[in-house]
Amino acid sequence: KGGHGKPVHLPFMPIAPAATTVDDVTVPAGYRWDPILRWGDPILPGAPAFDGTHQTPEAQAGQFGYNNDYLDIIETNRSGTEALLVCNHEYTNEGIMFAPGTDPATVIRTAWAAHGMSVVELRRRKRGDVWTYVPGARLNRRITLDTPFTMDGPAAGSELLRTAADPTGLTVRGTMNNCAGGTTPWGTVLSGEENFNQYFRATGTDPKETRYGLSATQDSRNWRSVDPRWDATTADYRNEPNRFGWIVEIDPSDPSSTPVKHTAMGRFKHEGANVIVNRGGHVVAYMGDDERFDYVYRFVSRDTLRPGTSPKARRHNLTLLSEGDLSVARFTGDGLEDGVSDGSGEWIPLTRGGQSMVAGFTLEEVLVYTRLAADAVQPTKMDRPEDVEPNLHNGRIYVACTNNTDRGKVGKEGPTEPNPRPANKDGHVVEMIPTGGDHTADTFGWNLFLICGDEASAGRYFGGWTGPVSPISCPDNVAFDSLGNLWVSTDGQPSAIKVSDGLFKVPVEGPERGHVQQFLAVPSGAETCGPVIRDRDDSVFVAVQHPGEDGSWAAPQSRFPDYVPAGAAPAAGQFAGPRPTVVQVTRA
Ligand code: FEO
Ligand code: CA
Ligand code: CA
Ligand code: CA
Repeated sequence: KGGHGKPVHLPFMPIAPAATTVDDVTVPAGYRWDPILRWGDPILPGAPAFDGTHQTPEAQAGQFGYNNDYLDIIETNRSGTEALLVCNHEYTNEGIMFAPGTDPATVIRTAWAAHGMSVVELRRRKRGDVWTYVPGARLNRRITLDTPFTMDGPAAGSELLRTAADPTGLTVRGTMNNCAGGTTPWGTVLSGEENFNQYFRATGTDPKETRYGLSATQDSRNWRSVDPRWDATTADYRNEPNRFGWIVEIDPSDPSSTPVKHTAMGRFKHEGANVIVNRGGHVVAYMGDDERFDYVYRFVSRDTLRPGTSPKARRHNLTLLSEGDLSVARFTGDGLEDGVSDGSGEWIPLTRGGQSMVAGFTLEEVLVYTRLAADAVQPTKMDRPEDVEPNLHNGRIYVACTNNTDRGKVGKEGPTEPNPRPANKDGHVVEMIPTGGDHTADTFGWNLFLICGDEASAGRYFGGWTGPVSPISCPDNVAFDSLGNLWVSTDGQPSAIKVSDGLFKVPVEGPERGHVQQFLAVPSGAETCGPVIRDRDDSVFVAVQHPGEDGSWAAPQSRFPDYVPAGAAPAAGQFAGPRPTVVQVTRA
């Protein structure tokens, strides 16, 4: 029991950092972990059991995809015994997914089916139990690179979005590189299309391409050998890259619904989007563009949320992200003489009232070439903003800047108050405070809540907390528990501070503000994604992404989670190498 007789949910003693050789999920004493869904587990009716030695595009299209990233568990009944799991599948690691010598076209088509998203029904007997998934359930769905999406908002149908296969510019086949995301109050899931550039061949000479990293040499997967749409050097598919890099919205409650790409929210390397309903009902989405020296964005809906779950309210709310104002953040420091990185900031408008606010750019150009439009208004170049998420308890926004080892390099911008460290290998977390608690205000305050690292690189500055903390580096995804504590998952600790990635709890209020405590560590080579904190159920969920990423088919660097002994034949449905897996952690 905690103070005032309240039960303490998810009590734990912080774990020690895990060595990178620990091929296991490390959890605190008194907890256990169970796999919920693994790459290849059959989801759709008729999908075959996983056979990693003979994977096919047809099998994969009915099975859980690869490299699970964003995760939510959406309860669908009052007793909490039924739920929908919604998950992104960011990318594929062909070198450990396929046996050497596999037909290249089979590899490519299977990879298309392993990208995208999954919706899967879960069941359990009572709260606190471990969930099991229901193969073939009614709402189960796979979204892949073949699923039709509708473009909506001001740039839908634009010439900039038309291709030979889609002369309307209104329908795109598929989504990919879906990284983080967010669940909306109306029950849909938003997902960010991030590093889309890597799948295309482009001319690499046009700034509208190069600003997005599109080049002539990047498409190592050679998808264009199977489908010409991945070759943007041709007149037919010059615009195909413009059809990726969006926030997509899916309705997991309706497997027949057509998912949407929202042009009003701009096109960049979207990490994800998280919304909050402002007083007055406007929906405000916060978004990061995960690239070194890129920006933090905000979208404010034109219309307001209609409360309730009636079909009419729902239909309206499904259009909220279709029209609104897009802006980009400028952080101004008040000087370091006060000993802390903090200051004020403003939201610089890119679109307002359906008009471009950037000289020299049409509305469509602002939305399709958002990075270039933003460059014209001098926002603050950040150290790779990943998750940007409002905390519903205190109304503040937390920005995970994962790292930026280029800061201060020759020819690059040097340290600034909001990004104060040169060669920033460990990252930091910015806390933004909307002026007057109004998420539509033009201004905000900010401070650096966490300056990450181990004691050697970060010292003892953690939101004002000066006691011992768990070392933490490369913050990526953030989540909040029912009390508003921040939880941070990491991607990059093995190289930055030589320990496995993990999940950390950090109070943001009270005397323990800034007290970083490690809850979990992921297996060898993996990044910690998800995370979902259900402290009232004493449950935590993480998506273990890219375990054993640097290994090979013949020499796996991880055997998580099936742990087939080296040299042994995998049992039915198992795999000798690593499998990206959604894991639930519960009290033992
Ligand atoms: Fe896919 Fe920015 O991490
Ligand atoms: Ca200051
Ligand atoms: Ca990420
Ligand atoms: Ca990352």
